[in-house]
Amino acid sequence: MILMRIGVYGFGAIGKLVTRLLIERGHDIVGVVDIDERIIGRDVGEILGIGKIGVEVSKGVSVLETADVVIHATGSYLDKVYPQIASVIEMGVNVVSTCETLAYPYYRYPVLARRLDELAKTYGVVVIGTGINPGFIFDTLVVLLASSTPNVTWIKAVRSLDAAKRREPFRRKIGVGVKPDVVREMLSRGEITGHVGYAESVYLIAQAGDLNLTRVEEYQEPVIAEESVESAGIRVERGLNKGIVGRGVGYVGDKEVIRLELYAYVGAPEYDYIAIKSREYTVEWKSTGTPGDLGTASIVVNTAEKILQLPPGLRLVTELLPLKIRFSV
Ligand SMILES: NC(=O)c1ccc[n+]([C@@H]2O[C@H](COP(=O)([O-])OP(=O)(O)OC[C@H]3O[C@@H](n4cnc5c(N)ncnc54)[C@H](OP(=O)(O)O)[C@@H]3O)[C@@H](O)[C@H]2O)c1
Repeated sequence: MILMRIGVYGFGAIGKLVTRLLIERGHDIVGVVDIDERIIGRDVGEILGIGKIGVEVSKGVSVLETADVVIHATGSYLDKVYPQIASVIEMGVNVVSTCETLAYPYYRYPVLARRLDELAKTYGVVVIGTGINPGFIFDTLVVLLASSTPNVTWIKAVRSLDAAKRREPFRRKIGVGVKPDVVREMLSRGEITGHVGYAESVYLIAQAGDLNLTRVEEYQEPVIAEESVESAGIRVERGLNKGIVGRGVGYVGDKEVIRLELYAYVGAPEYDYIAIKSREYTVEWKSTGTPGDLGTASIVVNTAEKILQLPPGLRLVTELLPLKIRFSV
């Protein structure tokens, strides 16, 4: 394995897991950036509980200047994180980001996406958005499976996870323990996000098969606890919200072609499921679940180790696969 010089931008839950993995693999951590005043100036290894490594958390991004790649994990919306990513590109450094809307930015931010692509090409670097979802379960893995069927007619992917087994910030962003009406209001006002990236995953799949979607629908709803429920030490009383159910659906005309469903609530079974229908046969795949945070850290680190093989510009995670899909709808 080639050892690289890697920077980390955003030292929250994901940034910490990423840094730990990078250290385990022997990569050189050139710098770590965050805005949290409580950790700025502190040794990264000490924060991780593994002893000093001689790298402190910095406020300024210039510490990332000598990196081959920066792993960026600060936010979900490209309009908010664009200046952060641009500042790294302008130092001539490649970027792998967990920003969900960067996974397929042409949908929500077409102007910013083109600007980012031009900027990356100007500086000769790659920028790519990935993670467990979007980035893997709902898109890359789907494309991989679908490539083993001749003429795809319909795709369904389901991710089901027990929110009790996730971090508290995850439960906050899906409104666990809050009144369902309040959750709906918070979702509509953007105070909580639920899952971000249904449409991005739908478009990643479509793009891997040159499919022109007519429209994509996104939907997210609270899940009301019909009875009090308890899992992994987390209890939700009857009538309160225990999580969310959401979906992204892609259509060609009136025909549904791609359906992605997320179940994330306290007590939900843990599995990922994919069904690919083709004219000739159906392929089904099911797992016993994939931990979201460590899964994301693994994917971004593995992507960082491969990124130099991609041509400069704004790239899509599905381009890392030497495969495509053929739709027949
Ligand atoms: N694609 C995927 O599958 C996937 C998976 C997991 C996470 N994500 C996304 O990745 C992002 C990071 O996740 P997380 O769980 O690590 O979040 P987190 O725990 O909130 O960490 C984000 C960190 O970035 C810092 N930060 C915010 N703005 C910054 C800025 N302008 N400059 C430097 N640092 C800044 C935050 O500091 P403060 O706390 O002081 O704001 C925090 O320490 C989230 O948007 C999350 O939704 C995507």
